[in-house]
Amino acid sequence: MTGATLQAIRYQRGSLEIIDQLLLPHETLYIPINSLALGHDAIKTMKVRGAPAIAIVAALTLAVVLVDPKTAPRLTTAQDAVAFVLESLEYLKTSRPTAVNLFDAAHKLAKGVQEAATKEGVSGADVVNKYLELSEKMLEDDVKDNMNIGKFGAEFILNVWRGGEDLRVITHCNTGSLATAGYGTALGIIRALSGQQKLTHAYCTETRPYNQGSRLTAYELVYENIPSTLITDSMASALLAQNGDKIAAIVVGADRVAANGDTANKIGTYQLAITARYHNVPFIVAAPSTSVDLNIASGKEIHIEVRPAVEVTTLRGPVVEVSSGSEVQFKKSADQQSVVSETIAVAARGIGVWNPSFDVTPAELISAVVTEKGVVLKQEGAKNFDMKAFLSSH
Ligand code: MRU
Repeated sequence: MTGATLQAIRYQRGSLEIIDQLLLPHETLYIPINSLALGHDAIKTMKVRGAPAIAIVAALTLAVVLVDPKTAPRLTTAQDAVAFVLESLEYLKTSRPTAVNLFDAAHKLAKGVQEAATKEGVSGADVVNKYLELSEKMLEDDVKDNMNIGKFGAEFILNVWRGGEDLRVITHCNTGSLATAGYGTALGIIRALSGQQKLTHAYCTETRPYNQGSRLTAYELVYENIPSTLITDSMASALLAQNGDKIAAIVVGADRVAANGDTANKIGTYQLAITARYHNVPFIVAAPSTSVDLNIASGKEIHIEVRPAVEVTTLRGPVVEVSSGSEVQFKKSADQQSVVSETIAVAARGIGVWNPSFDVTPAELISAVVTEKGVVLKQEGAKNFDMKAFLSSH
């Protein structure tokens, strides 16, 4: 198991680099993030994506900016430093709207520095140090939380599985090392099952329109040597109809889980939950407690990001330069830094497009929510989860 090897985020104090996920799976290129504008752009344009990864990149972007010698002279007093942190976090929060982890991280960081500034004799440097400590801990905690999600999720699936030795799982979008600080949530459960030699096969959906499944999850599954198959989103019901007796669960991540368990996740999640119910297959949401938004009673209150039409009407890939035998080579940019990419139109010109990036799966269709604190189940006969009761008692 090489869970910690593939890292979307490389950080050490003063330096942050992320894999540019727009280039995956064709090229693994780390790009530096050393300004608020670069951090904001990386999140908005999906160079980094996935709820926990977005939150951590935003938090660490500001950590890097705060120790930049160009910033320090502006932060002499504690009040200056707090004002700078709050203003920067507000800006970073405008990058993407749906995943709550970004807002949760920004809230915790803002509260932390504001509390630190109330102590007597505190300087701007002390406030900065408090920010660094809090944001660096978020990076550490996310990996630990994911490993616990993997453990609890694998245990839960093995407990409810009534099939034989051939245990398969379907997943959607990307929830692995690339979408988190490391290891992954739903993909963490797949890793854990595979590590225990209990998983015979994983299926990942392509996840149109942005192809997080075929670009990222498939890349991680191949990287980890987990036996796996890619399907298009429209093939899931047919797979369950033909092989349902071998599918132990559909496991997905979350961008925001409401207090009743309604879950916003990548578009297509809802239809998977419907087909899981029809085929009597457990439908499991895997998410850290930072993805739970207790401020909203149900999924109706979740703001769903609508993304540009061009993501639906085109596909993006590298320019193939030479193809000899099975070796495909990609054309490099003039500075040889990255592959040259090409956009291919796949829709009739002039067609209208609706491109919601997420949908909301009602709690009723979800069998369990696996968090780092344990597995949340419904009370006997209830349609909804009580996320608040679970989180406050764990
Ligand atoms: O638009 P994206 O790629 O940021 O959406 C990602 C997802 O929906 C993931 O499934 C979710 O964030 C969980 S990541 C552990």
